[in-house]
Amino acid sequence: MLHNDLLLRALQGEPVGRPPVWMMRQAGRFLPSYQRLREKYDFFTRCQTPELVAEITCLPVDELGVDAAILFSDILVVLQAMGVEVHMQEGRGPWLPHPVERPADVDRIHIPDVHATLGYVFQGITATLEKLNQRVPLIGFAGAPWTLLCYLIEGKGSTGFEKARAFCYHYPEAAHHLLEKLTHTTIAYLQEQVKAGVHCVQVFDSWAGWLGPEGFQLFALPYLQQIATALSPCCPVILFPKGATFGLSALADSGARAIGIDWTVSPAQARALVGHGITLQGNLDPAILLTDVNTIRRHTLRMMEQFGIRHYIANLGHGILPQTPVAYARAFVQTVQQYTPAQQLSTKS
Ligand code: CP3
Repeated sequence: MLHNDLLLRALQGEPVGRPPVWMMRQAGRFLPSYQRLREKYDFFTRCQTPELVAEITCLPVDELGVDAAILFSDILVVLQAMGVEVHMQEGRGPWLPHPVERPADVDRIHIPDVHATLGYVFQGITATLEKLNQRVPLIGFAGAPWTLLCYLIEGKGSTGFEKARAFCYHYPEAAHHLLEKLTHTTIAYLQEQVKAGVHCVQVFDSWAGWLGPEGFQLFALPYLQQIATALSPCCPVILFPKGATFGLSALADSGARAIGIDWTVSPAQARALVGHGITLQGNLDPAILLTDVNTIRRHTLRMMEQFGIRHYIANLGHGILPQTPVAYARAFVQTVQQYTPAQQLSTKS
C-alpha cells in the first residue's frame, strides 16, 4: 500500500485535501547530487544500470519531498532499441549520426522485442520500487511518436524541427509508416513498464506544438489516441502535448486520465477545452523558479487558485531548468504542499 497516493487519487478525480506536486525532469538535470553521478558515469550507462536508475529516481523524493517519482531514463532509449545509433553529447544534447532522410531509410527502423532490448529499464523499475518502499507512486514514461520522429529525422535537437515537418508533408506515406512503427513499439514498451510496476505513465509530446492544428490532427493525434486507448485499461495515462492548445479538446476524449499543459495556455482556457471529467497537470513557467522565493510563492498560489484543488496535479509547464537553485524548487513544492483555502483568499488582494 502506498503511503502517499495523492497523485493516483488526483488522476482518478477523487477528492483530495490538496493537489499532488511533482516536476517534469526532476530526476537529474538540476540536483547537485545528480551532477556528482554525472561525473562518474556517462549518460546511457546511467540509464542502463538499474542501481543508478533507482538512486537517481529517488533523489528528488529524498531531497524535495515531491509526491511522485518519475523513472530516470530518456525518451531516446526506444530509438536505440529500434536499431538507431543515439549518442548524448555533453552539454549539447542528443546526436544521431544516421538520421532518417529518405523514405527508404524507414525500412531500417525495426520494431524490437522490448524485453530483449529494454530489459534494463524494467529492471530499473524493479530496483526503484524497492528503494521507494511505497513512499510515493512511480511514473513511467515514453516519448510520443511525433516527438521521437523529430529526433529520428533531424538527428539532433532543433528549435522548430523543420526537417521533420517537411518530411511529413513531402512523404506522408513514409511518415505514417514510421509513426506506426513508433506507436507499436511505444505501446509494447509502456505495457511492459506497467507490468514491471509503474503506477501510471506519461507520454511526452514535447514538440507537438510545432505541427499546428492540421499537422497535429494528421501526425500526432491518431498515434496519441492509439497509445491512450491501449494503455488506459492498464493504468492511468497522462498526455503532455506541449504547445498544442489546439489539440486539447480532442485529447480529452482519448481515454487519458490527465493532460499536461504548458504556460502558454491559461488554466481556465484549458479547462474549458477539456471539460470537467479529466485531470489537468501543469503549468508554472519553469523560468519562475529562477526568480526568488516570494515570486515563486506568489505565482504558485495564483496558479493553484486558478486550477482549483480537484482534478489537478501541480507541476511546471515543461522540464525544470538545469540552473534552478534547489532551494527554489523546494519553495515551489512546499508552497503546493502547505496550500490551504485561506491562502487561496489572500492571493486575491
Ligand atoms: O523527468 C525526469 O527527470 C526523468 C528523466 C528524463 C530524462 N529525459 C533524463 C535526461 C525524462 C522524462 C526525459 C524526457 C526527454 N528526453 C524528453 C521529453 C521531455 C522534455 O523535456 O520535453 C526529451 C525531448 C528528451 C530528449 C533529450 N534528452 C534531450 C533533448 C536532452 C538534452 C538536453 C536536456 O534536456 O538536458 C536529453 C538528455 C537528458 N535526459 C538529460 C537528462 C537528465 C541531461 C543529460 C545529462 O544528464 O547528462
